[in-house]
Amino acid sequence: MSNNIESLQKEDRIFSPSPEFSATAHIKSMEEYETLHAQSIADPEAFWADQASSLTWQKPWDTVLDWSDAPFARWFDGGKINAAENCLDRHVAAGKGDNIAIHWVGEPGDTRDVTFSELLTDTCRFANALKARGIKPGDRVLIYMPMVPEAAVAMLACARIGAVHSVVFGGFSATSIKDRLEDSEATAIITADGGWRRGSVVPLKANVDEALESYDAVESVFVLKRCENEITMTDGRDVWWHEVTADVSEDCPPEGFDAEHPLFILYTSGSTGKPKGILHTTGGYMTGTATTFKYIFDHQPDDIYWCTADVGWITGHSYIVYGPMANGATQVMYEGAPNQPDWDRFWQIVADYKVTIFYTAPTAIRAFIKAGDHHVEKHDLSSLRLLGTVGEPINPEAWMWYHEKIGGGRCPIVDTWWQTETGGIMITPLPGATPLKPGTATRPFLGIDAAILDETGEECGPNEGGKLVIRKPWPSMLRTIYKDPERFKETYWNEYEGIYLAGDGARTDDDGYFWIVGRLDDVLNVSGHRLGTAEVESALVSHDAVAEAAVVGRPHDIKGQAVVAFVTLKEGIDHGDDLAAELRNHVGTEIGAIAKPDDIRFAQALPKTRSGKIMRRLLKEIVSGGEVKGDTTTLEDFNVVASLQKED
Ligand code: WTA
Repeated sequence: MSNNIESLQKEDRIFSPSPEFSATAHIKSMEEYETLHAQSIADPEAFWADQASSLTWQKPWDTVLDWSDAPFARWFDGGKINAAENCLDRHVAAGKGDNIAIHWVGEPGDTRDVTFSELLTDTCRFANALKARGIKPGDRVLIYMPMVPEAAVAMLACARIGAVHSVVFGGFSATSIKDRLEDSEATAIITADGGWRRGSVVPLKANVDEALESYDAVESVFVLKRCENEITMTDGRDVWWHEVTADVSEDCPPEGFDAEHPLFILYTSGSTGKPKGILHTTGGYMTGTATTFKYIFDHQPDDIYWCTADVGWITGHSYIVYGPMANGATQVMYEGAPNQPDWDRFWQIVADYKVTIFYTAPTAIRAFIKAGDHHVEKHDLSSLRLLGTVGEPINPEAWMWYHEKIGGGRCPIVDTWWQTETGGIMITPLPGATPLKPGTATRPFLGIDAAILDETGEECGPNEGGKLVIRKPWPSMLRTIYKDPERFKETYWNEYEGIYLAGDGARTDDDGYFWIVGRLDDVLNVSGHRLGTAEVESALVSHDAVAEAAVVGRPHDIKGQAVVAFVTLKEGIDHGDDLAAELRNHVGTEIGAIAKPDDIRFAQALPKTRSGKIMRRLLKEIVSGGEVKGDTTTLEDFNVVASLQKED
């Protein structure tokens, strides 16, 4: 019996880019992609060196890649670079200082436009304020901010002076802040009094204060005034952003740091246990994010780009701050929730700013579908020319909705597969070249050698499920897990010698397109058949009544595991007596009897991480023991779990 993951999903719909889109795109055809990809894989160092040379280096590198101490890579050794200079100074020097960097929209409706010149001045002033408080290259600075332009300024100011930022998502609690402070040994925090979320003020500063009750190594807390909510300031330690930047010089020359100088640590939860501090460095990360942003979002000078992620996630780091800004892009930044005041907020913003490129997560798309099309239909979305998704496999039916309702049938969708660890997008369509199929991230990006391997390390054939790996190092790869090189080796490099294990199950189809079938930890084993979660979930979501689905296994005497599906329905639909049976049959017809859920449980909501990924681990605990014992600190809303347990 094979130990590989079986794959049953079929998708025949194909959407090719329009000739008009391809005509102006950076990469115009599949032939061009295939030629470039083959060359880039034959000599990745030449490809990446060529890309790196579009950045501004204060000193050129001596070697492109040093892999002698694998898996600890060194890219562009000997080179000196400043990330902030690449995002700001060079655009101002090129005469683009008056271009808008950020069209900012606050949740309550306040707005601000910030030019590249202004962003540079703000960054220099704040960098000088950091220096004045004794912050030096290599020091760790925790950032806990709302989605305001100053969040980007804070990151860029750290980068400018070589301090290592660690951004903590503004929705995380005091405990999460404390854990990250302890692990990173940060000595400074940048925060705000509060931030707006769903009409209320998130008490950011109060959360910081609580974290600092049991961590005393922080010498400075910089506080931005955003919501004017009442806070306490501790003398000597806490300073107001507007005060420390008031009389400070706006001259702060960007020092060149070693290409391998750490740029940031970003904590990611991993499926179990303690968060991992993913460490990224400067030269390679900037090369990876700048290159992928340009080609994958086909960025052109007139584009208005909007990525709806929070800067607290890797998507915000790579595709709000470093990638777009390195390209001098004009973007929209929105502070608040997608349903504040109502479910059409995003579409209102797209119409107001004539957004051309829109990048969001499948979880958001499913929420919009659930809320109903009338919210979309109110607004003119004709400015959009390209859409993107990231974070989870997108169910083909959600893809179709996104394509038709948001993209008006005309916009290519880049379904981008990547991870906090990879730093940048790895598997993705190129919008002017790749014929799209709903549900697949399609082909590896240039310079990326992705493959699917079986248990023995052999490459899987078409439609054979296996483990997704990257066979050659790439510049924006993580360098280590902060302070835990053993865990870094163990987690990513132990399965196959010299090869990066992503932890996702996947298959390629007959066209060599990559389909992610789910996390390897979540794979089901039904009567000896190993099934990914994504396919069964997509089959459920393809039923008209279903908004969202998560499937997990529970122990079963005969089959090994039985399939349990948690299903949420679209607004206004009731499950009645027959829907469960109908859904089981629907899965049977869509992918086969083997995948038919044994139980279907209707739920109001599914447990998710704060970045919107379904936490199947918790559902597994519910179906096998009835109680959730594992770590729940990254869970968005514990009430969801509590109500699922009650129904048990
Ligand atoms: C999943 C987010 C399918 C995958 C940038 C990966 C995806 C994990 C996709 C990383 C996609 C992300 N299709 N699955 N387009 N994008 N994933 O670290 O399981 O938050 O390993 O990085 O999300 O999540 P992370």
